[in-house]
Amino acid sequence: MNQRRVLLGALVLALSACSQMEMKKEASLYDRLGGKPAITAVVDDFIGNVAGDGRINGRFARANIPRLKQMLGDQICAASGGPCTYTGRDMMSAHQGMNITDAEFGALVGDLVKSLDKFKVPDREKGELLGALGGMKPQIVGH
Ligand code: HEM
Repeated sequence: MNQRRVLLGALVLALSACSQMEMKKEASLYDRLGGKPAITAVVDDFIGNVAGDGRINGRFARANIPRLKQMLGDQICAASGGPCTYTGRDMMSAHQGMNITDAEFGALVGDLVKSLDKFKVPDREKGELLGALGGMKPQIVGH
């Protein structure tokens, strides 16, 4: 009987330690960004910046802007651990034949940073998101 009590006590302790660990588990980047509504707001503002950016807006003259916004929102949502599925083309296929330069890539990222700053996205989340997008650069530039 005593032994059972000890075992039961140990089990309760272990379970409560587990649930505390669960509580401390890091929120995903998606959640820390503020979920899909926050991502959509940033993407809308960002595409507005791109549209006004003479260094790169010519690239988007024939683009389907509503689709682009939707695809970017889904892509950022999925890449940050959110519950979205990105259904667009892979980055190499989407930018194939455009011969996008380093400077153009930098201009676009700068337009995004402006929006992230406008919406007061903290440095850590900004860094994580830009890091994820920076990883796509080899698929986007120079093809
Ligand atoms: C991290 C950087 C970038 C990301 C994450 C990104 C993402 C995307 C996505 C998700 C699409 C839609 C694909 C689809 O419709 O299936 C797209 C299309 C496109 N992107 Fe990018 N892109 C980036 C950089 C750039 C740059 C630097 C340029 C040019 C300056 C550019 C120009 C375009 C154009 C013109 C389209 C096609 C739009 C259309 O056909 O309607 N992208 N990009």
